[in-house]
Amino acid sequence: MKILIHDSAEAATSAAARDILSLVRARPACRLGLATGGTMEPVYAELRRAAAEVSFRAVTTFNLDEYVGLSPEHPQSYHRYMAEQLFDHIDIDRANTHVPRGDAASPNTEARDYDARITDGGGLDLQLLGLGANGHIGFNEPFSSLGSRTRVKTLARKTRDDNARLFAEGEVVPTYAITMGVGTIMEARQILLVATGAHKAEAVAAMIEGPVSAACPASVLQFHPRVTVRLDGGAASALKGRDYLDFVHPNAEEVDLG
Ligand code: GLP
Repeated sequence: MKILIHDSAEAATSAAARDILSLVRARPACRLGLATGGTMEPVYAELRRAAAEVSFRAVTTFNLDEYVGLSPEHPQSYHRYMAEQLFDHIDIDRANTHVPRGDAASPNTEARDYDARITDGGGLDLQLLGLGANGHIGFNEPFSSLGSRTRVKTLARKTRDDNARLFAEGEVVPTYAITMGVGTIMEARQILLVATGAHKAEAVAAMIEGPVSAACPASVLQFHPRVTVRLDGGAASALKGRDYLDFVHPNAEEVDLG
């Protein structure tokens, strides 16, 4: 894992956006796994700003997850989030963007088909990830199987509480979601995880320094050969090895030793 600690959340998210733009420039027909959540909003804002210089015309995207029961038009659906945050503002071919259908007649079939679309098309070059305060990635809640494929998951109370702020007053946060599995995520050739804010500190420490355990699904990333984690000081504040990480990458700088 390459752990880069930035001096602000803006620095972490804008570096993550630059990582994505570099990949798209180098490989215009790349396959990207995308994430939702508040952390990603400044990442997508930066991609929107770069839309005049970088073309997404040949890029294919697969989002991590979607709430079961929400149609693509629902204001809190991840379909809507992606349209508003990114897809409506860049030159991507919408036929190449994929988000699981939360309103599919059979969510289980939709999940299996979605997983097959990812693998049959050649997998993902880069998977962008946020981190749940309980250590989830996608909607793989604690005690998800670390080999799981895309499927329907029941959301944890903590996740539903955390996400309630995004739903209208009195509206119930869905109980179920379709999410890429932990095993599906682990097959991405490269992973870029972004976490900001002190409320993520415990989850970040468990992910990086804790035992690999389904209790913190993100901890399985310790087994992935190519992970970059971009943090701000708050999200890094519970790391025991902080001094060492600052020594290796002062100000999140990367040294090329050839
Ligand atoms: C949501 C999403 C995750 C996201 C996480 C963190 O539940 N399913 O993909 O990483 O929560 O969200 P935020 O960035 O808003 O803290």
